[in-house]
Amino acid sequence: MSDQATPNVTFHVGPGGRLEGRLRVPGDKSVSHRSVILGSIAEGTTEVDGFLEGQDALATLAAFRGMGVDIQGPDAGALRIRGAGLHGLEAPAEAIDLGNSGTSMRLLCGLLAGQRFDTVLTGDASLSRRPMRRVTEPLARMGALIETSGSGTAPLNIRGGRPLHGIDYASPVASAQVKSCLLLAGLYADGTTRVTEPATTRDHTERMLAGFGYGVRRQGATVAVQGGGRLSATHVEVPADISSAAFFLVGASIAPGSDLLLEGVGLNPTRTGVIDILQRMGADIEVATVREVGGERVGDLRVRGARLRGIRIPSELVPLAIDEFPALFVAAACAEGETVLEGAEELRVKESDRIQVMADGLIELGVTAEPRPDGMRIVGGPMSGGRVAAHGDHRIAMAFAMATLRADGPIVVDDCANVDTSFPGFDRLAAGVGLDLRVAR
Ligand code: S3P
Repeated sequence: MSDQATPNVTFHVGPGGRLEGRLRVPGDKSVSHRSVILGSIAEGTTEVDGFLEGQDALATLAAFRGMGVDIQGPDAGALRIRGAGLHGLEAPAEAIDLGNSGTSMRLLCGLLAGQRFDTVLTGDASLSRRPMRRVTEPLARMGALIETSGSGTAPLNIRGGRPLHGIDYASPVASAQVKSCLLLAGLYADGTTRVTEPATTRDHTERMLAGFGYGVRRQGATVAVQGGGRLSATHVEVPADISSAAFFLVGASIAPGSDLLLEGVGLNPTRTGVIDILQRMGADIEVATVREVGGERVGDLRVRGARLRGIRIPSELVPLAIDEFPALFVAAACAEGETVLEGAEELRVKESDRIQVMADGLIELGVTAEPRPDGMRIVGGPMSGGRVAAHGDHRIAMAFAMATLRADGPIVVDDCANVDTSFPGFDRLAAGVGLDLRVAR
């Protein structure tokens, strides 16, 4: 576990106001991780633009540098990665510390299971509590040897030099991280690795593998790769992260009189659940200038203040909006009537237990919120000011910052340092479009 103390950062947010103007949120976290992973094992030099310079994606970048990959940058979001090829990574000198980043740990675990050398993956206190058997068990079926703690968590001791073989795996969880982990291991396996998911999850790994010239087959809910191919360097343009844009979509929707343009947002159909859910709640979101950039859909989003109403969130939208529920719970708290979410037990094993932590904070602000094992019931109504805890979870911190637009007093959010994991500069961008936010360090 990393022992560096997280400096305490507190958000002080003044009530009311509206969001106006235009902005571009930073690059997509999922796409940024994958650009470094695939660029590092490709042949040739991969150029990346729009890379997210947040701690999570930087942890992935540092991991590959530590395995001998020559990576220049990031320089204003630009990277040049001299790929080492599928078999060119070198043993790192020490354990690889992935900080707060679940995506780094789960994706790297699959890739490293196929290397000649041993590795150890560690993370911070939050990452060291998150479940890893969902990846180590199927990897073991492929022939990998990985030790976890007794409770199936990091540190992960991954034994190298193990021959892997393809498997047919029906994942019990709808998780892009599990799917991606196994596809990456599958690049090193004999034969074909097939992963079937119980519901559609983000497909950036499949799209980007194809962009690097690696064959990926999809048939219904099953994705398959054949081991032993090669990746050819390419150019990756990272769109703005819809998961970061989500805070502004909610903020502008709940604050009357808002009018905000979010530029160049990634609109991959496996990620747009937040737009569908908000529109069902009555949000005024226009999607314009949709284009295709490097195999991913991108567009501009114009969002204006609207009267939201509570809804039952359709279960098929849950994986397509999995990171956006902290923000969506705030939207529900500002909507007329009741919002019910079910089938979202995965929220309990994210960077924090997002069901409990959001319920605690909303209740503190006077909102009727009933946490349930797999979701939440929220009744919209007036919101007071108060003091809430983000529990080191970036998305909880940003969600409560936005809630203040509808609170009748200031909100103080404690433990916000990890906002930098996914959204460096959030405070400046948010203040620039009208949020009365001050950061105390
Ligand atoms: C991610 C997948 C999601 C998401 C995470 C990023 C990815 O996790 O919550 O923030 O980049 O693959 P799960 O796949 O575990 O749901």
